[in-house]
Amino acid sequence: MPVQFDTNRTRVVVKDKGVNFTGTFSKETKQFVDNRYVVLRKFIPQDLIDLTLDTWKTIENDPEIYRATFVHEKEPIPNTPEQSLDTSDGCYCFPPAVGLHSWLKKELQKVLDFRIRETYSYSRKYVRGAYLRSHTDRPSCEVSATICLDYKSDDGTPWSIWVQNDKNYLGEADCQNHIYEVSQKHNQRERLKNGAKKVDLEVGDVLLYQGPNIPHWRDEFLGDYSYHMFLHFWNATGQLSEMEGMVVENELHRLTGGVGRGKSLIDWDGRKDRYDRSEDHKQQYMEWISKVWNNTSAEDKCKFVNNYEKYEENE
Ligand SMILES: [Fe+2]
Repeated sequence: MPVQFDTNRTRVVVKDKGVNFTGTFSKETKQFVDNRYVVLRKFIPQDLIDLTLDTWKTIENDPEIYRATFVHEKEPIPNTPEQSLDTSDGCYCFPPAVGLHSWLKKELQKVLDFRIRETYSYSRKYVRGAYLRSHTDRPSCEVSATICLDYKSDDGTPWSIWVQNDKNYLGEADCQNHIYEVSQKHNQRERLKNGAKKVDLEVGDVLLYQGPNIPHWRDEFLGDYSYHMFLHFWNATGQLSEMEGMVVENELHRLTGGVGRGKSLIDWDGRKDRYDRSEDHKQQYMEWISKVWNNTSAEDKCKFVNNYEKYEENE
């Protein structure tokens, strides 16, 4: 009897440097690659959400620890409208987010058919009137997860996030004002016509998306609060590691005689490791952003970030 093919998986051919490999994609991988985003419903168990949020709220309840952890944000993104200024507090690599980030990576690897590595996390609490201007992200957000841990909105529904995935916007990302003009600036009807999608994430859902490649935004928040975490990864099986200066020597790489790709400059967003929350080790990565990334043509950026051209569906 022939072996039954798993109908949840899609056969693919990988055409890499003149050699063809065959394999399969999970439906999550296929959606992420084809649509530039995928929504993973009920992906994070409520117990884990509770653990994370209890830690967050305990810190929030202690003014001294809170001030040492979170920064008040005048505006999360430049050109935020006047009425939405001063509506969020944020924290880079908040300790409970570091733990959740690590957990999420392991769980995502069970559904994704490419290898991801952590870059950084950001946690943000939004209050009434908050607004996230449409933008695209830097390469550290090649594979980005956004989650909501708790919210209290006026109508009892989650605060929608919009993604515009009708094409790859990486080549146009140098002008973030242009990104806004072609996406959020439009009314809802026009946005939908242009290919934008409105995504509502309940607590436990994960939106996984190609951060540098698709504009994403949120309109004004009507509610008391909304707690969010943004957990970022890069695709270690993709082309990003082939960019100039991306592979760096490290102790493990040296001791193993250079086995594997070694530590990448983008691992941990340039930090020393998962637990390093300082800026002390980020200089080399920041220099790479200004010297290499910012001087790479739009066309070439598209060859390196979220480039899945080598995968072809095998009917
Ligand atoms: Fe973003």
